[in-house]
Order: sequence, then structure tokens, then C-alpha cells
Amino acid sequence: MIIDLIKNANHLVVFTGAGMSTESGLPDFRSANSGLWTKEKKAYLSSTEALNTHVQEFVAFYRERVLGIQQFKPHKGHYILANWEKKGRLKRIITQNVDGFHEAAGNKKVDELHGTLQKLHCEACGEVFSSEKYLDQEYKCKCGGILRPSIVLFGEMLPEKPFLQAEEAAIQSDVFIVLGSSLTVSPANQFPLIAKQTGAKLVIVNGEKTDFDKIADIVIHRQIGEVLEEWDKAIGLGTDIG
Ligand code: APR
Repeated sequence: MIIDLIKNANHLVVFTGAGMSTESGLPDFRSANSGLWTKEKKAYLSSTEALNTHVQEFVAFYRERVLGIQQFKPHKGHYILANWEKKGRLKRIITQNVDGFHEAAGNKKVDELHGTLQKLHCEACGEVFSSEKYLDQEYKCKCGGILRPSIVLFGEMLPEKPFLQAEEAAIQSDVFIVLGSSLTVSPANQFPLIAKQTGAKLVIVNGEKTDFDKIADIVIHRQIGEVLEEWDKAIGLGTDIG
């Protein structure tokens, strides 16, 4: 069933969450004992309030996360999705992830709903910098403003262009595959619903149950890396990452 769906899809769209990058070494947010929001109780730092009132703690937290995306790399699953795009099998990736690993693996058609940790911008003048500045212990712009990661903090609006492109992709999709998301954060978690409501077959691959499992056509509670490798072989693409 799932292999036929992937093989025969006219408009396959993949939607990824933090579970897509845990096999690269990056923690997710809500997995028991390891998620950033469960183990380290740091969710309060992902807010403009923390940026404005606890800037040292805010910067230290995001410096750790910038270090993470410099130290860890895309895993084979990311390269499989890049090969699927190259071979025309995958039309688009909608991601909640800010690690930039899909583009680093070679995907070009990626909508980053929650922005990117690869960049910083000044809260005051908007100038954009590489997030490496945080590694140089710098977080002040020459204009005096504070440099913050170009990600969506809790309470902030999502960037309009990726949102609209993701909505279009969800509507156009005839197969919509969720990889590694608890689907607990809106509005990102609405895209699988939009896909399903507009006629797509919905597939969820996640380590744990999600509230959307009941509306999915196929639910697989397994590790993403091994599932993608099995699918890749079964559809005859056999991605070789050298
Ligand atoms: N294979 C399959 N599933 C996995 C794997 C794996 N290797 N690793 C983790 N998972 C699953 C976990 O079981 C969990 O349900 O991935 C899911 C990740 O869920 P979250 O940690 O909630 O991450 P995500 O859904 O991406 O969070 C959405 O919340 O805090 C915000 O902005 C942040 O983009 C993030 C958003």
C-alpha cells in the first residue's frame, strides 16, 4: 500500500518535524527524557519576552542550538528525500525544523515554516547576519539593537511566504507524508489536515502516537531513518550517499 502510494503519487509532499533530525544528533522538543521542552524545561526561552528580559540566558540557549546545527549533519534520510526531489518523486518539503538540514542535503523546494537558525537578524534595524556571530559571543548590532535567531518564537506570526506556499502544497498534494512531528503546534499542524480534507492520502511516521493518527490513512510508529531506507529501496531509487 504505502510503496504504491509513493510510486504512483502525482504530487507527493513531505512534512517534517524535529523527529526528522534526532538521528542526526539534534534533540527534539517533546520526547520524554530527551526533548528540549521536557528534559531542560527551556520552552520559556523560546519567546520574545525572554529575548527582552533574560537576554543573556536567551543568547546562551540559542548559542547551544547554533552549535548543534554546526556540529551535527543531515543523516541518510535527509539525502534520500533530496534524491527523491531530484528524481521528480517528491514535489515539496514543508518543515517546522530550523536546522537547515533539508537544504544542506540538497532539497531546493523547502518551506521553512518556523524560520532558520542559520541566520540572525537585528531586532531594531533588521540587518541579517550568519548565526556564527552567536558563537563569537556577539549579540549586539552596530545600531545597538539585539541580534536574535531568524526563527519564529512562541507568540510570533509565521513568515507569510512559506506559509502560503505550504498551504498550496498541502492542497495540491495527493500523498502527504508526516515525518517526526507530535503535530501539537499550530498553525503548522493544520497542513496535514488541509491535505486530508482536500483529498490527499495522509501517512504519519512518528515514534509516538499523535492526535492526528485517527484521521491518517497509514500510521507507522517506527524510526524515520530505517523507514525511509526501506521505502527508498522498494521504489527502486536506492539513494547512495557515497
Ligand atoms: N523517528 C520517528 N519519530 C521520531 C524520531 C525518529 N528517529 N525522533 C523523534 N521522533 C518523534 C517523537 O516521538 C515526537 O513525537 O518526533 C516527534 C517530535 O515532536 P516534537 O518534539 O513536538 O517536535 P515538533 O513536532 O517538530 O515540534 C513542533 O514546536 O517548539 C516548537 O518550534 C518548535 O518546530 C517546533 C514545533
